[in-house]
Amino acid sequence: MKKIKIESPSKPHFCYFGTDLFEKLPKLISASQLPKNILVIVDSNVNKLWGKNIRETFSSLTYNVNYYILEAGEKSKSFTKVQTILKKMVELKFNRDSMIISIGGGVCGDLSGFVASIYNRGIALVHVPTTLLSMIDSSIGGKNGINFANRKNNIGCITQPEFILIDKKFLKTLPKDEFLSGCGELLKYAFLGDTSLFKDISKFAQNGFKENDANLDNLIYKCILVKSSVVKQDEGESDVRKVLNLGHTFAHGIESTSNFKIAHGIAVSAGLLAAIILSYKIGLINEKQLSAFSELPLLMKYPESINKLSVPSAIKYMASDKKSVNASPQFVLINDIGELAMNVEVDSALVNESLTSALNFIKTLNNPTKTTSRKK
Ligand code: GLY
Repeated sequence: MKKIKIESPSKPHFCYFGTDLFEKLPKLISASQLPKNILVIVDSNVNKLWGKNIRETFSSLTYNVNYYILEAGEKSKSFTKVQTILKKMVELKFNRDSMIISIGGGVCGDLSGFVASIYNRGIALVHVPTTLLSMIDSSIGGKNGINFANRKNNIGCITQPEFILIDKKFLKTLPKDEFLSGCGELLKYAFLGDTSLFKDISKFAQNGFKENDANLDNLIYKCILVKSSVVKQDEGESDVRKVLNLGHTFAHGIESTSNFKIAHGIAVSAGLLAAIILSYKIGLINEKQLSAFSELPLLMKYPESINKLSVPSAIKYMASDKKSVNASPQFVLINDIGELAMNVEVDSALVNESLTSALNFIKTLNNPTKTTSRKK
């Protein structure tokens, strides 16, 4: 087991990472002297696969353990679900001496974190992320929230958990498309760390993004370290934390215009390609870097539906991104591996060209026999 200190200024805490670690959760809870009234919020898909194991694990804890099964899917990140869970906690007579344990992916973690941060002005929270994306990104750093008025993650706050427990065994039952989506987010870290992480992530991608890749443990561990270091420097995202949004401005447009049919991490991977091309177009990287960096997102397996996306529609959504200033998208672009440029505003024609170019490359990958312009 690895024990990583997440040095968030507001509340330093630990992330425990390993395989077959979940069984240790009751011991960690009692050792941390956490509240004895617990609501375990479990993603419905995780519950189907692991529900029995979860209940058996908690049976060794002589605490008041209750369960709420959260319908899987983005729609659950709503005020309606927040209210339902708050009502349940009131019915259970939960006071401040209560806590929430989230067992699921990003949706479950974001929603549970938000409920924990507002119930009685804040109660304890433990994250048990079960998807690759939530293991390397969303469970670390305290961001939580829900979607409101058709906008993603626009209601929420940053509150840190008591600890995070990552058990890699949950990846064994993760559907392939969800695993790939996590890989898209993982590609982002290739540009945030050092050249050795870039090389390791490249190898993993060249090897076909496999759940049983011998190097995956190491990659998850390194991504957590990178994220932790960013959160330590800027927990509130007023400055350097923005680098975590690399590829995300384009991804926001891609996801929204696909009506969220394209998974987040897949959109991030396509968004990375567009951001790399844009970095080249404005002279931040040279042709050699363009070719070396593009290789990673071009190894991703994209769904056919991405070929039909409308660039103008994606661009329109990008203007409404919550990080836009005066309807002008703010890009994170690349100077080099580990050297990112933040708050870059770019001529809209170049943005359009970069996204068009990225989607054309992807189209060529998806239809290798058809001739598609590879013009940049
Ligand atoms: N997922 C981006 C962040 O935590 O800041």
